[in-house]
Amino acid sequence: MAIDADTLEKLRTESADPPRVDLSWLNLDENGHPWGMRAKPGKRGLTLDEIEIGEVGEVPEQSDNRSIRVRGSVPRPDAPRVPGGYVGKADVYSENSRLLYEEAVQRQWSSATDIPWEGIEGLPDDIERAMCQLCTFLTEVEFIAGDTPAQWLPSLNSEHHEVKLFLLSQIMDEARHLDVFRKRAFANGGGLLSSLPQDGLRVIIEAKDFTEMSAIMHVAAEGFIQSMFRMGEYIGQNEAEKKIFRLCGQDESRHLGFGVLHLKYVMEAEPHRREEIHHYLDKVESTLMPDPMDSDGANFALFEALSILMGGGLKNFDKGLQLSMGVQRKRVNEYMHRLNVAGLGDRKERMNPLLRQFLEN
Ligand SMILES: [Fe+2]
Ligand SMILES: [Fe+2]
Repeated sequence: MAIDADTLEKLRTESADPPRVDLSWLNLDENGHPWGMRAKPGKRGLTLDEIEIGEVGEVPEQSDNRSIRVRGSVPRPDAPRVPGGYVGKADVYSENSRLLYEEAVQRQWSSATDIPWEGIEGLPDDIERAMCQLCTFLTEVEFIAGDTPAQWLPSLNSEHHEVKLFLLSQIMDEARHLDVFRKRAFANGGGLLSSLPQDGLRVIIEAKDFTEMSAIMHVAAEGFIQSMFRMGEYIGQNEAEKKIFRLCGQDESRHLGFGVLHLKYVMEAEPHRREEIHHYLDKVESTLMPDPMDSDGANFALFEALSILMGGGLKNFDKGLQLSMGVQRKRVNEYMHRLNVAGLGDRKERMNPLLRQFLEN
């Protein structure tokens, strides 16, 4: 409903004294503000790397900023503290976080329209069940992969916005992974099957330090998932499934890339943390391969499902088992390669024996 002219006039004439004019915020150059700095778009547009130039682009090794003041803005003495922020760059930083964020934004995809769902045809029951079991497992994995970075957002200092942006992009990626595997489970008559043992997922969500979380989730757990996605051409039974694995694998490469370069940064900046990091890897490795002595058969469901998918049905189970062991070999060796890149080549001698047996020279 429009305000009539009389009411408007009343509001104008009855208004209290105008607010006091201060304009002190205009004198920014007195505070050393980088006035006149112009960020220019590069080959990929106006990316974060393009605007993080000069002093504002420098991430401090240690920050005394405990408020929500963003890097590059003028501080105010009465700013309240926000709890829980990391103050050290090495606590959270990864040199590729800006790049990975920009790539994530550019490479989003839709599980509704980018997967050729119409190409999925009826599969033999054993193969459909195996795919649905794998999808059930992956849906649970992707829940934790989204919850975990979300837990860490408030711990990031506002000086480290590029890390926050990367984690936000990861949360969106994991949301899509969760939905695409759920969709696949329901797309061909199978549906979701057994929830699987979740000790490994609890290790991820219960991490108490950012580097602990990143080493466990990004480098170890997502590394293992990524190595499996990269075998998607053999696991997928049709173009839709192969494309799901390809697209999810592309996203996982970013999550891994962040973790490996964060770990590398920590190893270079704070080499005294080496034993502490090994301790975290000890914890996660014990969850990455089922113990053959384990009496709970559900612990083997993932390997069994993979064996059926890769072998081409229950009738070829032994052949499939060999192939799924090949996936495990690939996972362990790629994991070791990533640790080498991060500066943790000494992991080779200390790796959990159930994984170490797959190591190649
Ligand atoms: Fe994921
Ligand atoms: Fe991920």
